[in-house]
Amino acid sequence: MQQFPEKLRKRIEERNKNNALRRLPVPKDLVDFSSNDYLGFAKDEQLYERTYRLLVDNAVEMNGATGSRLLSGNHLLYDEVEAKLCEDYDSEAALIFNSGYDANVGFFSSVPQRGDVILYDEYIHASVRDGITMSLAKGYKFRHNDLDDLKSKVKACHAERSRGAEVYLVTESVFSMDGDSPDLDVLSKYCDENRFHLVVDEAHAVGVFGNGMIPRLQLTSNIFARIITFGKAFGCHGAAILGSNTLKSYLVNFARSFIYTTGLPPHSVATIITAHSIYTASETSKQLRENIEHFLQKVKELDLHKQFIASCSAIQCAIISGNDRVKEVSQQLQQKGFDVRPILSPTVPAGQERLRFCLHSYNSEEEIEEVLHLLATFVNQ
Ligand SMILES: Cc1ncc(COP(=O)(O)O)c(C=O)c1O
Repeated sequence: MQQFPEKLRKRIEERNKNNALRRLPVPKDLVDFSSNDYLGFAKDEQLYERTYRLLVDNAVEMNGATGSRLLSGNHLLYDEVEAKLCEDYDSEAALIFNSGYDANVGFFSSVPQRGDVILYDEYIHASVRDGITMSLAKGYKFRHNDLDDLKSKVKACHAERSRGAEVYLVTESVFSMDGDSPDLDVLSKYCDENRFHLVVDEAHAVGVFGNGMIPRLQLTSNIFARIITFGKAFGCHGAAILGSNTLKSYLVNFARSFIYTTGLPPHSVATIITAHSIYTASETSKQLRENIEHFLQKVKELDLHKQFIASCSAIQCAIISGNDRVKEVSQQLQQKGFDVRPILSPTVPAGQERLRFCLHSYNSEEEIEEVLHLLATFVNQ
């Protein structure tokens, strides 16, 4: 076998030394407080069966897309689902990508041009960061949800703006590592006043807060682009960028992660359609919100609220500093039957290591109470 490069081996050793080495986990039958399947759709039998029926009824009993959407892969269901997304999310146009990762990389590597500016929250998802790295535009990072720091970064890009730069500002409506949200009303007003293009990643908001925070706050006409993903609350796969018809046409022509890849198989596209029909008719998101309320109430009763990052979403994080300590508490909870995962540095800054509780419609009140009682015991040991 060929020798593995020494400098790469050293990087692995360094991770190991910091107790931060990533390993693929073996699935265990634990109470789920870690998956993104917020509504239980990934295992929903009705969704599975109705999707199969849709494929049969449309005579698309195929296993794969057979090519890029620009060649042979643009099967008929794509039109149907994109039209449905426009209706459900109040958008002029929708373009499906293979994943949220592809959507963000595709957008940020192709839309902002050389000489343009991208302002981004320091906690923005890695997929946006990777798109920015691939872009020829200049990125400016501002402190998490901090409007004053954002304004200081806007001052710092004065030279680019005076040369006519387009400015893109990107944030998440629910942050994946903290579960908190920016003040989208204020941000959108600020962007309007300054003619910035606001881009919002709604991956952890759709399905949890209806069709996302943007329609809820009636901001759809103020947003340049929204990224919605289907691998989380909708329990399936894929993502879409919502925006104008012109943006869609631009992405079809220039977003390389859209062009140079095989499209989603018909089954995935059909599942997106069915998941949205089921969602409209179901009560599961109400149940999820009740569970979030119950969780927050118990956190307060157990006097754990100082430990938790303020959040009203399905992501609730308890800060437990240090990779060793947070891993230890997570393992203790797992030994008691609860799947709660640690988020380690360098995924989050050192000192901000945390246990991330992902809440679901199918978690029972008893499970929520028990896991929090255990947490209170373990953190006080
Ligand atoms: C905020 C955010 N955006 C995008 C993505 C990527 O979505 P996908 O899993 O569909 O690639 C994720 C998933 O981790 C995410 O948390």
